[in-house]
Amino acid sequence: MLLEVRDLHVEFHTRDGVAKAVDGVSYGVDAGETLAVLGESGSGKSVTAQAVMGILDTPPARITGGEVLFRGRDLLKLKEDERRRVRGAEMAMIFQDALSSLNPVLTVGDQLAEMFTVHRGTSRKEARARAVELMDRVRIPAARERAGQYPHQFSGGMRQRIMIAMALALEPALIIADEPTTALDVTVQAQVMELLAELRRELRMGLILITHDLGVVADVADRIAVMYAGRTVESAPVHDVYKSPAHPYTRGLLASVPRLDLKGRELYAVEGLPPNLTHVPPGCAFHPRCPSARDVCRTDAPPLYEVSPTRGSACHFWRECLNG
Ligand SMILES: Nc1ncnc2c1ncn2[C@@H]1O[C@H](COP(=O)(O)OP(=O)(O)OP(=O)(O)O)[C@@H](O)[C@H]1O
Ligand code: SF4
Ligand SMILES: [Mg+2]
Repeated sequence: MLLEVRDLHVEFHTRDGVAKAVDGVSYGVDAGETLAVLGESGSGKSVTAQAVMGILDTPPARITGGEVLFRGRDLLKLKEDERRRVRGAEMAMIFQDALSSLNPVLTVGDQLAEMFTVHRGTSRKEARARAVELMDRVRIPAARERAGQYPHQFSGGMRQRIMIAMALALEPALIIADEPTTALDVTVQAQVMELLAELRRELRMGLILITHDLGVVADVADRIAVMYAGRTVESAPVHDVYKSPAHPYTRGLLASVPRLDLKGRELYAVEGLPPNLTHVPPGCAFHPRCPSARDVCRTDAPPLYEVSPTRGSACHFWRECLNG
């Protein structure tokens, strides 16, 4: 495995008490693979990603347990300067909001060139050429001319391409994209997603794609990790999940995807709301919303059971779920 997150725990101390934002997340991604991370708002997807990248503000956050193994090394044990070296050169992150991540007073070409002059000691002239190459690579038309423009002169989709170019600059082994297309129009979303998938294949990077959009998952992901209330509730190859989910929450999520062939039929969304993370229900955190809940679910928290060597489910009754 290129990256393996094992039983990660992150807390926030709030006025209401301790919020267990990440309460036992485990997932992994290999080189050349895409892992899609799914789950409702507040389930801990971004906090987990920030802990992996080492950009979580501590405080207010506290990492209270687990491991983040990257190429076999636990990143949580590295000193800040070692950590900084890994970040950028070996792993990079793409955020939802490109405009606030780019420097408004530097031309796009200069920002890209800086990646090479600062991190690689490349000459300015060479760095400029590399910047234009990168803009070509993320398919920005007329890259040479546009390198002299500022971020606000680009459309949302083009800005997101620039973010992707920044992330690719140092040829990292892993890219984490946190809802990279949420702020874009639907057609532009598809283009940016295709580009990411293509580059991932070309460069044999690992990609962690955090998304709400189950539609894209089937097309681009190899594996899925489903999160609920700060935990991984199902982790599996994408085809297995689509064929038959091994967790009732995954089943509910899948049933919520609008499908063209089912037009007009009522969509089943998971009923109810996610729990308050300072007061997570005992037992299985999903039990108040679970159509299959039984007495044991209200008292005993399910571990991530091994469904197969490549698949896990945190449901006591995963066998029944699997059999539909
Ligand atoms: N700075 C903070 N202070 C206190 N709590 C926080 C802070 N940042 C995050 N949290 C808590 O961590 C939980 C998980 O947040 P996170 O951003 O990871 O959710 P998410 O799954 O990425 O959701 P979304 O889909 O909306 O982006 C949130 O419910 C929130 O309560
Ligand atoms: S453990 Fe029980 S409540 Fe939790 S998902 Fe499984 S059946 Fe539902
Ligand atoms: Mg998020």
